[in-house]
Amino acid sequence: MCGIVGYIGTQAASEILLAGLEKLEYRGYDSAGLATISEGQITCVRAKGKLHNLREKLAEIDSPAPIGIGHTRWATHGKPEEYNAHPHLDNSGRIAVVQNGIVENYRDLRKELKAKGHKFVSDTDTEVIPHLIAEFFAEVKKEKEEEKEKKAEKIADLSFLEVVSQVVNRLEGAFAIAVICADFPDEIIVARQQAPLVIGFGAGEFFCASDTPALVSHTRTVLSLENGELARLTPMGVEVYSFTGERLKKSPRILGWSPVLVEKQGFKHFMHKEIYEQPAVVRACLEAYLDSEWQPGNPHSPINLNLPKELCADVEQISILACGTSWHASLIGKYLLEQLANIPTAVQYASEYRYAPAPLTANNLTIGVTQSGETADTLAALGMEQQRRAGFTDKFRARMLGITNRTESSIAHMMPHVINTHAGIEIGVAATKTFVTQLMAFYFLALDLAHQRQTISTERLAEIITGLRQLPAEIEKFLEIQEQYVEELSHQFTDTQDFIFLGRGINFPIALEGALKLKEISYIHAEGYPAGEMKHGPIALLDAKVPVVAIAMPGSVYEKVLSNAQEAKARDARLIGVTPKQGVAEAEIFDHVLPVPLVDELLSPIVTVIPLQLLAYHIAARRGLDVDQPRNLAKSVTVE
Ligand code: F6R
Repeated sequence: MCGIVGYIGTQAASEILLAGLEKLEYRGYDSAGLATISEGQITCVRAKGKLHNLREKLAEIDSPAPIGIGHTRWATHGKPEEYNAHPHLDNSGRIAVVQNGIVENYRDLRKELKAKGHKFVSDTDTEVIPHLIAEFFAEVKKEKEEEKEKKAEKIADLSFLEVVSQVVNRLEGAFAIAVICADFPDEIIVARQQAPLVIGFGAGEFFCASDTPALVSHTRTVLSLENGELARLTPMGVEVYSFTGERLKKSPRILGWSPVLVEKQGFKHFMHKEIYEQPAVVRACLEAYLDSEWQPGNPHSPINLNLPKELCADVEQISILACGTSWHASLIGKYLLEQLANIPTAVQYASEYRYAPAPLTANNLTIGVTQSGETADTLAALGMEQQRRAGFTDKFRARMLGITNRTESSIAHMMPHVINTHAGIEIGVAATKTFVTQLMAFYFLALDLAHQRQTISTERLAEIITGLRQLPAEIEKFLEIQEQYVEELSHQFTDTQDFIFLGRGINFPIALEGALKLKEISYIHAEGYPAGEMKHGPIALLDAKVPVVAIAMPGSVYEKVLSNAQEAKARDARLIGVTPKQGVAEAEIFDHVLPVPLVDELLSPIVTVIPLQLLAYHIAARRGLDVDQPRNLAKSVTVE
């Protein structure tokens, strides 16, 4: 969580840093702050709440300082108050630090520093860092004076970079930091340990940030630091070192996507725009992974995920690790891998798995699913899986696969194989288009494996491929025709307190996802439930005040869902059906119908999720809430 930025060059830093923080606000927005250096002094300005509060404060200060660092916070240690906002300073006010992550041993360090006379003014873990830096500088100075007194040879001064590298070696946890010091007005030192940090290269100016959207309006030439690396940014260039002090040779790369993607393009919210981008991103997945020439009867697989054959050749079991919406996509992945490719598949919350891992079996494939590629729980669980595999054969160690939307992210560096979900950057905190493209990745993986293992007939494969190709047009049609109706319907539920979402089979995870979307952006309590389980307890919750959304797609569980919906109706619940407009049965059962296109049941999650995203969006927007930045959340959850 949290976003950090830095700038060094020839322009006034404040405006560049603020614009960068705006693009990172999705990572946290409890408070924000900037520190710049001019005339040998650090100026630090911080404000509680959203970035506009900081902007207002900065308007009173006209600073031309060409170097600075900034931060937007998602509170972990300490309340979201101004005194806990970053940057944090040492007692002399000459060292300023911003951090994304958690320093786990901060209590011990704080105690040690307090004993040496350091005074702390915040509740944060981060504040130990500027104090530790100051302490190292003080020690160097003292040693130098002692050596002088002894008239021994003058010891070499430690550079700013060397001092920061001593300090990062004392920090435990996952963190990315940027540091400035008034005594080194031409340097920013940055370091990365399991939290993202990317450096941007301009002409005579250099940037750093937690994520690329903060950089793309200035440069698309970027370098991602790896764990255990530090860099020194000066107006002359960038030098990268390991935490052990070794100079590293690294080459920047050019980002492939356009800055336009991080603009709202006429939509009021990013989430709304991203819902509308779904036909295009599904198309992008089809283009990336489906052979456009493939015809039924062709012996080769229609799918090319660019994965080596041996990755899955004799896989007997799959474990999927993920969190939140990615976990919901993984549940659908499980359905597909089991039903199409006949491979037993377990889906685990990454945050739980680490503390109760399943026994490792031979021929197991582990898949990590994370749109951001930075979710700490998922990375930690995958890291543990990597360690458990150490000592086994190369083939077994390589049996790990990441599914991510960010090919420059930590998971992409960590995993031997990656499927890129091609959704383009997603800014709204609530995942929408990235969810749909995760589903596409699972369709392709399951179908490819089913083809390899001959667990699918040629006719069925052709049917599904045809259905997949039709999806973008079906979603487009739905958005064009139904959005206004969903919006109007949403007006009836702005004061509702509880919602139930029901689904069965492949659409049960969509009920979970519909409930999660509503909870996170509208703050309405919602539960997703397997429709058939209602009668085993939760049906007691139902009365006329609790609307029930039932996903009823023609196929194996259609009649069953309709019966479950009837059971809810008999308890006075208001029923909303997510179902194709077919006949009288639906019209009689449901009070409202969100008519989705009639597609193959296996592909239906891609169309059933869209009205639920829109329903959540319009209810939240109608309630006047901050849809893109809901309270207490952040897009990239980089703490465990
Ligand atoms: C919900 C949402 C979160 C994320 C979860 C995992 O809309 O966005 O539940 O899905 O935090 O994030 P990733 O996929 O980045 O690992």
